[in-house]
Amino acid sequence: MKIRKAVFPAAGLGTRFLPVTKAIPKEMLPLVDKPLIQYCVEEAIASGIEDIIIITGRGKTAIEDHFDTSKELEFLLEEKGKRDLLKMVRDISNLVKFSYTRQKEALGLGHAILCAKDLVGNEPFAVFLGDDIIDSEVPAMKQMIEVYKKYRHTVLAVQRVPKESISNYGVIKGEQVEDRIFKVSDMVEKPRAEDAPSDLAVIGRYVLTPDIFDYLENTRPGKLGEIQLTDAIKNMALRHPVYALEFEGDRYDAGDKLGFLKANVSFAMKRDDLKEEFIEFLKGLKL
Ligand code: G1P
Repeated sequence: MKIRKAVFPAAGLGTRFLPVTKAIPKEMLPLVDKPLIQYCVEEAIASGIEDIIIITGRGKTAIEDHFDTSKELEFLLEEKGKRDLLKMVRDISNLVKFSYTRQKEALGLGHAILCAKDLVGNEPFAVFLGDDIIDSEVPAMKQMIEVYKKYRHTVLAVQRVPKESISNYGVIKGEQVEDRIFKVSDMVEKPRAEDAPSDLAVIGRYVLTPDIFDYLENTRPGKLGEIQLTDAIKNMALRHPVYALEFEGDRYDAGDKLGFLKANVSFAMKRDDLKEEFIEFLKGLKL
């Protein structure tokens, strides 16, 4: 079955980014001039997704407004003859079909995904965690969907990370079955470095089969007292095959201050309208 739907959990409070996230959803922080979430939405579309389900919470209406039409703005731009900007603003709201549902309590990533159960229905689907921005030649989700098409089971995105930071991630234990592809036998959410089963950390892209909802319903709160997606996938892996793809591309943790700054610098350097002056400016910094 084709992967048509993608779930975007976006109900988090963004505490790693306070104070800016007090009144602005972290998903709306800009990479140069585009909000973080739009990069993931564009990756989803470039990977063939037709239907985007955003799990929101209180204080997140800016996300809905961003992907909605804005008649006043369109009228103003039309009147001023700003055709390019008008097209850009219209394209945002015409990108794809959006649906929204709320996660009423912050009970964890697993719980957020469970909130999408009715909107997803009985079909495999993609999950995007908006903190993870992946810059790649072939969209990361497209790479994962190719693996799904071959194996027809859940696929996780993984990346090798140094020992010092492994405890920030879900970590897999897996047996390599092909170049960059692993069959997962176990998973741990945020292990201590000495307990990590490998250096392969889960990055925020998943292709999940709909039976994940049964496992999520039976998952008790785990690490940090939250219902963890990792725990549900770990249980699923005991009965059904689960695969992991070491995707090709550069990943930025844009939910972290340093990662966000790195992403902004590297995306700005790729922009034809900015790069020359920006590089000159960087060269002039007394480092
Ligand atoms: C979540 C997941 C974790 C995964 C990470 C990727 O953690 O729970 O398994 O490795 O995303 O970014 P979070 O970053 O929300 O703490």
